[in-house]
Amino acid sequence: MEKKIAVIRGDGIGPEIMTQALAVLDAVAEKFGHTFRYAEAPMGGNAIDAFGVPLPDASLQTCLESDAALLSAVGGPKWDTIDPAIRPEKGLLALRSGMGLYANLRPAQLIPQLRRACPLRPDIVDRGIDFMVVRELIGGAYFGEHKTWEENGETAASDLMIYREHEIRRILRVGFETAMKRGRRMCSVDKANVLDSSKLWRRLVNEMAAEYPEVELRHMYVDNCAMQLVRDPSQFDVIVTENLFGDILSDEASQITGSIGMLPSASLGDGTRGLYEPIHGSAPDIAGQDKANPIGMILAAAMMLRYSLDMPAEADAVEAAVNTALESGLRTGDILEPGKTAVGCAGMGQAIAANL
Ligand code: NAD
Ligand code: IPM
Ligand code: MN
Repeated sequence: MEKKIAVIRGDGIGPEIMTQALAVLDAVAEKFGHTFRYAEAPMGGNAIDAFGVPLPDASLQTCLESDAALLSAVGGPKWDTIDPAIRPEKGLLALRSGMGLYANLRPAQLIPQLRRACPLRPDIVDRGIDFMVVRELIGGAYFGEHKTWEENGETAASDLMIYREHEIRRILRVGFETAMKRGRRMCSVDKANVLDSSKLWRRLVNEMAAEYPEVELRHMYVDNCAMQLVRDPSQFDVIVTENLFGDILSDEASQITGSIGMLPSASLGDGTRGLYEPIHGSAPDIAGQDKANPIGMILAAAMMLRYSLDMPAEADAVEAAVNTALESGLRTGDILEPGKTAVGCAGMGQAIAANL
């Protein structure tokens, strides 16, 4: 098959991990007889430097004309003090919203080989860690009005968190459907003891639950959920939640699977076209040093093969190649066990590509 993939190399460690993901995709193409055409779509800090905006129209267009888009990460200290309206992160939000990607799937799974990289007690780990965070991606506080103003001699600021019924229903649908395909347990996470948007969320969850009698449903407040994730993550199968809560809980989830460098994500809308990225950022502290873990990025490419390109066998092969590399003892610095030597970003990526 021939597929067109928009490639967003990003900032910081972005270009390093993208190079490794593309090497893995090249190995997939070779092994399975496909042609992947890569179309560069600059976005983020590098796009601000080159074009003055974080998401040039041409980049959005390239993504909309591709079968899928692959993104590493954007942002960094260089752009932290510029006009907030054109920060690198705004480019990412505009891309997600411009592509209509309201559902962000973030699978948190502890690969057995990484048992020792998990900071939780062995008896907790032994109960198993395998859940999916279904995060609403283009609503809530990220997309409400942001303002800063002067009032009584001091500065005030506000960010509006708005959810409309249709925005909640479409993500809940993804949550319930995901639960049906997995362990049929769904935990809806909100702050309904304080927020009106959460009260609406909870009412709609209860309404939709009538359509999914096979799914065991629970509601949980977000503060409790943050605690339960480290007390006993085995209790979770699917977590469905709003944008900001999902952002925070998924970083927490990543660390219990070993490292934030391990977790991929898929952002989907109504069609099959999606955006695939690791959940971590541009890691400016280790950029340009060949230290980044490319596995989250490579597993994001595997999710792309599965969800947008209809290549499940190819996705399985990439995941198996990652497991084989970990099995053989290769570790980047973030998942290194005491007394062992770390391999670099390129070393890890090449080993995974070679396993294909
Ligand atoms: P970060 O995820 O970039 O880094 C947090 C910590 O995790 C750092 O110590 C970093 O070295 C480590 N880390 C992250 N990815 C790693 C990897 N693949 N391998 C090894 N270690 C890894 O978060 P931050 O420092 O809060 O943010 C840095 C920049 O990235 C900010 O500008 C932020 O806005 C941006 N960001 C972008 C995205 C995205 O593009 N999707 C996501 C999160 C943050
Ligand atoms: C993520 C990131 C982004 C988010 C930022 C960079 C806008 O943290 O993808 O998790 O909050 O969604
Ligand atoms: Mn995040």
